[in-house]
Amino acid sequence: MNRSDNEVAVITGGSAGLGLALATSLIDKGWSVVTDARDADRLHAALPGSARVTTLSGDVRDLDHQDAIAAAVARHGRLDLLVHNASELGPMLPLAEVPESLFSRVLETNLLAPLTLTQRLLPYLIASRGTLIGISSDAAVEHYPTWGTYAASKAALDHLILTLGEENGIRAYAVDPGDMRTAMHQDAFPGEDISDRPLPESVVPHLLALLAGDEPTGRYRATDLAPTGATR
Ligand SMILES: NC(=O)c1ccc[n+]([C@@H]2O[C@H](COP(=O)([O-])OP(=O)(O)OC[C@H]3O[C@@H](n4cnc5c(N)ncnc54)[C@H](OP(=O)(O)O)[C@@H]3O)[C@@H](O)[C@H]2O)c1
Repeated sequence: MNRSDNEVAVITGGSAGLGLALATSLIDKGWSVVTDARDADRLHAALPGSARVTTLSGDVRDLDHQDAIAAAVARHGRLDLLVHNASELGPMLPLAEVPESLFSRVLETNLLAPLTLTQRLLPYLIASRGTLIGISSDAAVEHYPTWGTYAASKAALDHLILTLGEENGIRAYAVDPGDMRTAMHQDAFPGEDISDRPLPESVVPHLLALLAGDEPTGRYRATDLAPTGATR
């Protein structure tokens, strides 16, 4: 079934990669999208603003910036989908060598910001019986050497998202998108040819399937979800 034209999504990190692919798809389907990124020029070039597209440049860790996102949602008066996608890879170092400042910074971006932004937006999400998604990683459940900082943040993000779902009676999903050909993936594998990795656009139909379906709150791998182009 088609969703109405006035549904509203917040997607963090919408200027590139998976965030941009998902934002573009939802906009094409008639959704209004509020999104952000730190590099204002890249953000506004990727998604020109319109009545249905709000692009807010800023760091998702910044509470004033989060207030601006909440104000944009308030102008719409509803929120049907919140996707915590913006993320930092952090230092690719054995945990024994990770500087505390870099560990803290990754947790601020990947864990604390999703909490404080969700706190600001929860009333809208609950009122719309909306969906909360945290973009996770296989690193959240595996134990790859040198990935520990990012992995710990994603494991904790999974817990945060799923607990928020249970506490608030909203559908909440931690989604492992799988490897994608993006800047973050290239940063994780410097100098490696990543042209065999799928484009982030290929993950979007799996996310749309989750949005359209009735799966219970939980952790999912995108590739385990039958893809669809439809939204409910
Ligand atoms: N790529 C993979 O293989 C892979 C695998 C598993 C999971 N993931 C997850 O998938 C999600 C998307 O990753 P991706 O590969 O698409 O990343 P990407 O291509 O590097 O894009 C990241 C986006 O987030 C924005 N961003 C980063 N830090 C931000 C911050 N502090 N505040 C606001 N915006 C910020 C970036 O813009 P600015 O830099 O301008 O801020 C950009 O728009 C992430 O959660 C990642 O952990 C990726």
